[in-house]
Amino acid sequence: MMKLSPFKLERYFAQYEFSVKYMICGSDCQSFTIQELLALEPSALERFQGHWLGYTESPGSPSLRQEIAQIYQTIASDQVLVHSGAEEAIFLFMHAVLSVGDHVIVHSPCYQSLFEVARGIGCEVTPWTAREENGWALDLDELRRSLRPNTRAIVVNTPHNPTGYLMAPGDFHELNRIAQERGIPLFSDEVYREAEHRPEDRLPSACDVSESAVSLGVMSKTYGLPGLRIGWIATHNQLLFNKMAALKDYTTICNSAPSEFLAELALRHRQTLVSRNLGIIIDNLSRLDEFFARHSERFVWRRPKAGPIAFPRLLGEDVEAFCHDLVTRLGVLLLPGTIYDDQGNHFRIGFGRTNLPEGLERLEEYLSHALK
Ligand SMILES: Cc1ncc(COP(=O)(O)O)c(C=O)c1O
Repeated sequence: MMKLSPFKLERYFAQYEFSVKYMICGSDCQSFTIQELLALEPSALERFQGHWLGYTESPGSPSLRQEIAQIYQTIASDQVLVHSGAEEAIFLFMHAVLSVGDHVIVHSPCYQSLFEVARGIGCEVTPWTAREENGWALDLDELRRSLRPNTRAIVVNTPHNPTGYLMAPGDFHELNRIAQERGIPLFSDEVYREAEHRPEDRLPSACDVSESAVSLGVMSKTYGLPGLRIGWIATHNQLLFNKMAALKDYTTICNSAPSEFLAELALRHRQTLVSRNLGIIIDNLSRLDEFFARHSERFVWRRPKAGPIAFPRLLGEDVEAFCHDLVTRLGVLLLPGTIYDDQGNHFRIGFGRTNLPEGLERLEEYLSHALK
């Protein structure tokens, strides 16, 4: 029986996410209502009301898969497997590829399921560590040194949760080359793709670069629609695709029909969604620059190049105690880095939502002498 440790981030959020006033550490962008989505097309409301609620096709509805395939350069709709969120896809990838005793290399720190599921299966996990002093970059020599004959997967996440790190194009191609040369599937978590602060910095998707890689995408982050619970993988790796599809019969069988409808609708207008959310990100980033410039004695701020999250360092006091005091006294939620087993006194801040300025004001109040 597989043993999974509690998901620290989920348990932390469970205490606060829906009760605090200023949640400024979310990793998703500003969401939309169903009404807003349906307003994107003149006949959408009528079509949604008439949408059939039977089981849907297990790999995802053909028209949704077609829409998702548009995100990639070389992917056909039958190379897209739709899941219930990115989370289900991570779980199924790990089970499709790994067995007890296998070795896996995972970008660290990371979203917990990217290493926890492998560990739960009984694999040995080597962290591939992003270091702040290197601008959170990954060292390819360290990857080469970590490879073993029984390494069965390499897991990378760029743009990165929690640091916002965007890999350099040369490194990304080299990473794909190394994985392909060794015959190791690269699991490329790209859930923050298309949220690059300068669109010209966008990396290609791993599935478009390598025949064996698997790209992970989702509606939740850049597009701001986590409540749909629609994620997917895209890959040319047919064997792996088939294994994941077979496992899906034991998890969710098929996706939610209303969610498939709304995800397809949203993706037809994904440039509109992305532009709105990128606008919020860019606006919030300049406020963060100013905020951290005003408080440079308290924080080390490293402006990320992509995504709606960053991982600043707190100076002079313990980050867990700081976050606890801040949420208790002012209802402002930041995420201490210890949730990621980070020992560097960092915290995650989220800036993809419109409530950031208000949350920052309260944080500033907290930092002022009146409350200390
Ligand atoms: C890097 C990364 N991968 C996967 C996920 C899971 O996405 P979802 O909640 O849509 O399943 C998250 C969510 O925070 C994430 O940050």
